[in-house]
Amino acid sequence: MPISTLPLNDGTQIPSLAFGTGTAFFHHQDAQTTLESAINIGFTHFDGAQRYKNEATLGAAIKASECSVPRSELFISTKYAPLTPGETAKTALCKSLEKLRLEYVDLYLVHAPKDHTDGDGGGGGLKEVWKAMEECKREGLARSIGVSNFGVRHLLEIVECAQVLPAVNQLEIHPYVWDFVKPLIEVHKEHGIVTSSYGGLSPLCRAPGGPVDPVVEKVRARLEDTWGKPVTRGQVLIKWLLQHDILVVTTSTKAERIREYVDTGNVPELTAEEMWLIESAGAECHQSFFKNTKYCLEGI
Ligand SMILES: NC(=O)c1ccc[n+]([C@@H]2O[C@H](COP(=O)([O-])OP(=O)(O)OC[C@H]3O[C@@H](n4cnc5c(N)ncnc54)[C@H](OP(=O)(O)O)[C@@H]3O)[C@@H](O)[C@H]2O)c1
Repeated sequence: MPISTLPLNDGTQIPSLAFGTGTAFFHHQDAQTTLESAINIGFTHFDGAQRYKNEATLGAAIKASECSVPRSELFISTKYAPLTPGETAKTALCKSLEKLRLEYVDLYLVHAPKDHTDGDGGGGGLKEVWKAMEECKREGLARSIGVSNFGVRHLLEIVECAQVLPAVNQLEIHPYVWDFVKPLIEVHKEHGIVTSSYGGLSPLCRAPGGPVDPVVEKVRARLEDTWGKPVTRGQVLIKWLLQHDILVVTTSTKAERIREYVDTGNVPELTAEEMWLIESAGAECHQSFFKNTKYCLEGI
């Protein structure tokens, strides 16, 4: 089954599963082989960032795969993290496009509000940065624009003056932060903003042995039994996010796992009770694993 898409508030569609080039590949110049296998296995959406310092690797993988998968069938995203004072979202994007060897990105995100509210991130405050993001869209350098790690107060600050609303807000989401992010997701819904997640597999790779584990294992066994094919715990967590209409940005260094992620679309649905059991187990032990999350959720 092809990867499903979610509608964006600017009239375009976004693949609901993305392969990330941060975390496991952060500052990693040799990700090209893995990225090429991700394209061959069926990933179409790639999540990059200036901060990861490996956009050239992603560009090389896109170029090397263009005979089998043309660029027009891929959805490429990158994030603005100003490195030098005086740089703007647009000048930074032009540098990214050069590294990616592309004429446009499908999605351009402001990486984190903290970069622009602490005064030393370049490009001015959030309203000014958003104006520059809108210019990138107007000029066709980015088809869609959005944000990452924005809390309610950051979103409302730009929504107030926006000519183009953010299409996406990407943040840490898994059962252990679910109760905290729910109010933010309600604000996304009010403005038609797609919720995009990273860190979704944290119960498996960052907090193994927690209260979510036995519930996920029980659901995994039930799905495997119903379906008659192998189901993994990672697929259960990805399915839990997708059933909430949340875009999933994940990653892996292993081809086998990349195949497993892409196959998630074929796995049967979780029941409403199973969804609730996973969330209740997460609420027993609230914890986040990324430094931007605390800042994003302050004041909610
Ligand atoms: N906007 C932001 O501020 C921000 C922050 C963080 C991340 N991101 C983006 O999101 C992407 C994904 O982030 P993430 O790493 O947090 O995603 P994740 O989906 O939470 O974790 C992916 C990791 O889980 C491991 N994994 C998968 N199944 C497992 C299992 N059964 N047991 C143990 N480990 C397992 C994989 O390791 P293997 O390599 O061994 O398969 C992989 O490294 C990043 O690459 C980046 O593009 C954005």
